[in-house]
Amino acid sequence: MAFSKLSLLFAFVLVHAFLLHSSPVYCNEEEDDLLEELNSFRGSLNLTAFTENEKADCIADEISDELEDELCSRAAEYQIKPGNGPQFPSFTKSLTKCDIDNSTTTDGIILPVCVHNLDSDLVRKNYTETKFAQFLNDSKYTGAGLGSKDDWMIVVLTTDAHSGSFTGAAASLVATGMVHYMVALLLGLFLVFSL
Ligand SMILES: *[C@@H]1O[C@H](CO)[C@@H](O)[C@H](O)[C@H]1NC(C)=O
Ligand SMILES: *[C@@H]1O[C@H](CO)[C@@H](O)[C@H](O)[C@H]1NC(C)=O
Ligand SMILES: *[C@@H]1O[C@H](CO)[C@@H](O)[C@H](O)[C@H]1NC(C)=O
Ligand SMILES: *[C@@H]1O[C@H](CO)[C@@H](O)[C@H](O)[C@H]1NC(C)=O
Repeated sequence: MAFSKLSLLFAFVLVHAFLLHSSPVYCNEEEDDLLEELNSFRGSLNLTAFTENEKADCIADEISDELEDELCSRAAEYQIKPGNGPQFPSFTKSLTKCDIDNSTTTDGIILPVCVHNLDSDLVRKNYTETKFAQFLNDSKYTGAGLGSKDDWMIVVLTTDAHSGSFTGAAASLVATGMVHYMVALLLGLFLVFSL
């Protein structure tokens, strides 16, 4: 019995370690470089650097996936005003996928840029030297998430205030935890019975 409990515990730890390590970690050079450049722009304006917001990263990825096949000439159609994220066709679906509470997106802003091959100079200038610069030059925005696909770069800016924090619904977090636990439990039982 003690042995079964031990293997159950072991399975639990193992599955958790596995689930934690398998959470997607996106490393994208273009996005990392751009974030650095946006932050040095912030520095030049005496504003704090953006901290990375994982949920904003997630929705930026979703939106760039969605825009992948659109022509750059359509970029203007996707230029958005604060809080009107739903202009993106499947914004609601993406919110669900990223586990973001809709009410925490209204004060954030989504800035899409389309540049052939994401030429890094042009991308940077499209953020720091166009009307988008006013959003970067605003202390209200404190976090950022980036996503890119083909010619599209999406920057999502988030706020410290709840209404722009891009956070999830607490219930879903519990649900996610429950799933981890159930998987661990099932695997644990499986191991116990297979001994
Ligand atoms: C930033 O702060 C420095 C030191 O306080 C000051 O000299 C500089 O003028 C400021 N720059 C801007 C853009 O506010
Ligand atoms: C999200 O909030 C916006 C603005 O309040 C609203 O227009 C939209 O219908 C909401 N979407 C969902 C899925 O609740
Ligand atoms: C923004 O990108 C477009 C498309 O690549 C380019 O033609 C334009 O010059 C860029 N704007 C700036 C200010 O860099
Ligand atoms: C940034 O905002 C400040 C204050 O609103 C303004 O004085 C300054 O000209 C802006 N700088 C840029 C580069 O937009």
